[in-house]
Order: sequence, then C-alpha cells, then structure tokens
Amino acid sequence: MNAEVPSAAGSRLAALNRWVADVAALTKPDAIHWCDGSDAENAALIAKMQADGTLLPLNPETHPNSWLHRSHPDDVARVEHLTFVCTPEREDAGPNNHWMPPAEAHAKMDALFDGCMRGRTMYVIPYCMGPIDSPLSRCGVEITDSPYVVANMRLMTRMGAPALARIEREGSFVKGLHSTGELDPERRFIVHFPEELTIKSYGSGYGGNALLGKKCHALRIASHQARKEGWLAEHMLILGIENPQGDTHYIAAAFPSACGKTNLAMLIPPEGYRRDGWKVWTVGDDICWMRPGADGRLYAINPEAGFFGVAPGTSAKSNPNALASIQSNTIFTNVGVTADNQPWWEGIDNGQVPVTDWRGEPFDPAKRPAAHPNSRFTVSAKQCPSYSPMAEDPHGVPISAIVFGGRRASLVPLVFEARDWTHGVLVGAAMGSETTAAATGAVGVMRRDPMAMKPFCGYNFADYFAHWLSFDTPGAKLPKVFHVNWFRKGDDGKFLWPGFGDNLRVLEWMIGRVEGKADAVETPIGLLPGEAGLNLEGVALSDEARDKLFGLDRAGWQAEFASIGEYLAEYGPRLPRALLDEQERIAKALG
Ligand code: GTP
Ligand code: MN
Ligand code: MN
Repeated sequence: MNAEVPSAAGSRLAALNRWVADVAALTKPDAIHWCDGSDAENAALIAKMQADGTLLPLNPETHPNSWLHRSHPDDVARVEHLTFVCTPEREDAGPNNHWMPPAEAHAKMDALFDGCMRGRTMYVIPYCMGPIDSPLSRCGVEITDSPYVVANMRLMTRMGAPALARIEREGSFVKGLHSTGELDPERRFIVHFPEELTIKSYGSGYGGNALLGKKCHALRIASHQARKEGWLAEHMLILGIENPQGDTHYIAAAFPSACGKTNLAMLIPPEGYRRDGWKVWTVGDDICWMRPGADGRLYAINPEAGFFGVAPGTSAKSNPNALASIQSNTIFTNVGVTADNQPWWEGIDNGQVPVTDWRGEPFDPAKRPAAHPNSRFTVSAKQCPSYSPMAEDPHGVPISAIVFGGRRASLVPLVFEARDWTHGVLVGAAMGSETTAAATGAVGVMRRDPMAMKPFCGYNFADYFAHWLSFDTPGAKLPKVFHVNWFRKGDDGKFLWPGFGDNLRVLEWMIGRVEGKADAVETPIGLLPGEAGLNLEGVALSDEARDKLFGLDRAGWQAEFASIGEYLAEYGPRLPRALLDEQERIAKALG
C-alpha cells in the first residue's frame, strides 16, 4: 500500500484535491489512502479484511484467491425506495424517480456523513468506466470507507493510476461519496445530483448501493450525461454471435434485474450449433453505452471491467462460462459454504451440500436458503472464457439488434420484432416484468419497467423516450428492435421454453431478419417468426407450448394495450406525441 498519509493532495488536479480535502474535513477519517490499483495494494487490503473478518478465505485448493463476504442481513439488495434523483426541478426527475430538492438533499446527506469516518481509513478510488483509451469512456472518483468496496471496484472498473492520469488530463470526473455508516436501514440513502455529476450514498455496503461506478454512475448519472451529449447509457448486456461463416453480429439486450442478462451474455450454443461452428462472445453482461458512429450505426462499449452476477441458479448446465469464470480470484457475497469451505448456492447442482448458510449459521432448509436469493459473485471479465477481444476495443462494437425482454408468465410470446424504430421505442417503453429479489420488496408482482431502466434512469422517462426517438435521423442505420420472453409458463406453472443455450435459436432468427434472410408474419403487435421461423430441431415442445410461444392472444393484447395506454398517461403532456400515436395505432389494429 502506498503510505497511509492523511493527505488530500494525491493528484495533480486541484479540483480533485480540493474535493478530497472537503470530504475529509466533513467525514474526519484517521487516514486517507489514494488507490493506485496495484497488486500490492490489493494484497494488503485483502489481508486487512481477512484479519478483521470482512473476507473469509474459501478453499484454496478448489477456489484459489477467492473470498466470502457476509453482508449485514438487512443490507442485501438495492433499495429503490431510498434512492433519489435530485434535479433542481422535480419535473426533470419525473414520476419514475424519488426526488428531493438538491439543497435539502445535500444538507440531509452531509449531516449523515459528518464525522462518519472517524477511526476509519478513507479510500480515494479513481476509476474509468470503459476502456481507458476509449472516447466513449467516462471517469469518476469514488471516496469510500469500505475496503470491500475498493476490492470490488478493482474488479468491476479500470481503477487506479491509469484512470487518475486520464482524470488529470480531462479535468472532469463524476464525484461519488460513499460510507457504510451504521448500516441502519433507517439511515440509508442513495442520492444523485445529475447536474453536479455527484453521488452521495450512505448506510449500505451492498453492490448496487455502494459500488458507485455501476448503477449510480454508469446508469443514473450517465443516462443524464448521455442525453445531453447525444448517446445512450442502458441496462443492457452486449454479446457477439459468430456464425459458421465467421461473421459476427453484436446484439444489446435490456432485461430487468435477475431476468437473464448475465446468462444470455455468456450463452453456450446448443450441441448442433456448436458442431456447425456458431460461437457467442461476451462483451458485457449489465451495462451498455452506445453512440452513433460516422457510418450511422450505433457503436457500443461495456463500461464495466467485471461481472457482479447473481449466484443462485448458476451451474455447469445453466451457465458454464460464468461457472468457469468464478473458479479463482472471485469475491462471493452472501452465499453458503460446504464442509470443505467451497461456495454453494441453490441450483449450483454440483452434488455438494451446504453446511453453513449465508448468515453464517448452520444450514437448515426449513429456516432459510443457504445462499441469499440475491447473493452475487464479483470477478474480472478477463476470466470469462467467452470474453470478447472486441470488449477492449476503444471504438466499441456495431450493434445489429436491440432486444427488450421481461419476465412474463402469461400473454407475451417468445419473440417478436418491432416494425420500425418508433415502434421499437414503444416496445421498450411498455416493457413489463415480474419483480425479483434484486431489489427489496415483494417478488413476482408485474410492474412496468421501461427498457429495464425503471430503477436506473436519471431523469424523466418522458424525456428519455423522446431522447430514444431522436436517434431516428436521416443518415442513421439503426439496429432492428425485438422483444423476447424466456419466462412464459404453461397451465402447470412450468416454463414452456427451455431457455439458456436454446435462446440462440431466437437470436439466429433475429440475425436472419437483420440480414433479410428470415421470414416473419405481420401482426398488430409486430412481426412474429411464424410456424417454421425458428430452428427448433431437437427441441420438444407441446402443442400448448407452440400455441403460447408463437401465437397471438388478441383479447389479452387488447387489455395489455389499454394498460400500456394508462401507464403512458402517467407521464402527462411531456410524453412524446409519436409514442402515444403508436400506442393508439396498435390498440386500434387490435380491434
Ligand atoms: P442483474 O445482474 O441483476 O441485472 O440480472 P441479470 O439480468 O443478469 O440476471 P441473470 O442472468 O443473473 O438471471 C437470473 C435468473 O434468471 C436466474 O434465476 C436464471 O436461472 C434465470 N434465467 C436466465 N436465463 C433464463 C432462461 O433462458 N430461461 C429461464 N427460465 N430462466 C432464465
Ligand atoms: Mn443489473
Ligand atoms: Mn447480471
């Protein structure tokens, strides 16, 4: 570790040094540590966390250099009801965000931060979201009193000296201030000031609340920046599909939290496809920044450098690439452990059994699952066998298709294509999904989650939809837009579509559509693959499954469009007329 100097002057940028000094004066840490991102620094931090029990070593034979962290039991997910977007005008945050006047929010947060780092070390983390040399990347500095946050940020971002050098060169950066505080849910707030490029997060050590580069910066603040600068910051995975001829198409897909992004991003083709030479490349699994290139196409980067993935359900069968990624150098949060100290979670399906649950108590299935449903792994993307070499390309990858999707047990077919960009924006805006364990609150309730950005859009959704529509300019070569639903259930309550690797069959149809090779059937809701559209060789589907996955329930869709109309009306006159026209046109076509 570079010396624990209680110094604020760790950079060549006066504005940064001043901010660090101000924060130190407020939070009163014992020491200030500027993170350089080196291996030595990381080793020292890990040793310190091992000594104080923040990290528990896992079995070094099976999981070298891997650690278990048990969070406070009340601090296991994002807290949407305590997350605020503080624009000067309430209207600019929109009905989709909780809002406080900026001055009031600063006062409230600064009162919490006052003296909160006494007895602790304050870490200053310069980081870059995106490849260090990419014009699409943006930098930030997170100040935190949590070494666990430092270790996670090191895996999730390009953190340390190179990022600081870029910040010093550019002179601007997103300011993120974080303290775990007392971990009291009553004193927990995640507050954003988009106009000031500032984040203040207090009282939680959980990923989405504490690793400020991720949701707070790369989505809430970045979406605001993106609107101003003409790009998009989205809750999307990015993957490359290489066909047997060696051509690669890149697809970006937005699904709500815990609805399959990480799984799709790391997809392993079904046996027959593998034999024919199909490959899937992972560019990103959670966040996508994209902007139009000189040729009119959208180019995308993954601003992250690691994966913060949901552990439960990850197995050699469901996601072998994820499992291979997390065999070493991984931080596990809130999973169970086996007798020989290997990480364990529901659905790992490796023939082992847990003895200790995520709270550190003897495992008792009657009491609680071994792993928390939102338990996670943090690992560098470089460890993923399918990690795309193009993920480090400063220009980003050209996007051929954008996919929206949610968890819909009923109504929504397996896949359909939007007629054009405006229709595609409506499909995204109207997205619905059943809630999951990724945020606190009830699970399994249908809610609208436009473009999977409900928890993450840093401004009024009405303006966000208008921003999306604005990409449809004369020279633009926009991607095709699709909607998928891997989660349709039969009358017996079971999933009708095998999902996972077999989702490639759906992606293949999309690419066929992009290349003008695949057929589709026109319906009021969009273009469906029709009977023979997908390659279903080797997939056993019942008649009920075929009906529900590929058919159109007209009466059900009439009700859905009425509900979409009601939802859009919540945004009032600010909503772009073109979107309402589109909704009305389809509602009418449905009869
Ligand atoms: P965040 O990281 O929270 O943004 O979520 P995510 O979208 O990356 O979710 P993830 O890929 O981790 O998926 C979580 C859940 O979706 C797990 O329970 C998976 O088993 C399930 N899942 C993923 N893909 C499929 C699929 O194709 N079919 C079915 N039935 N379940 C799936
Ligand atoms: Mn996510
Ligand atoms: Mn994920």
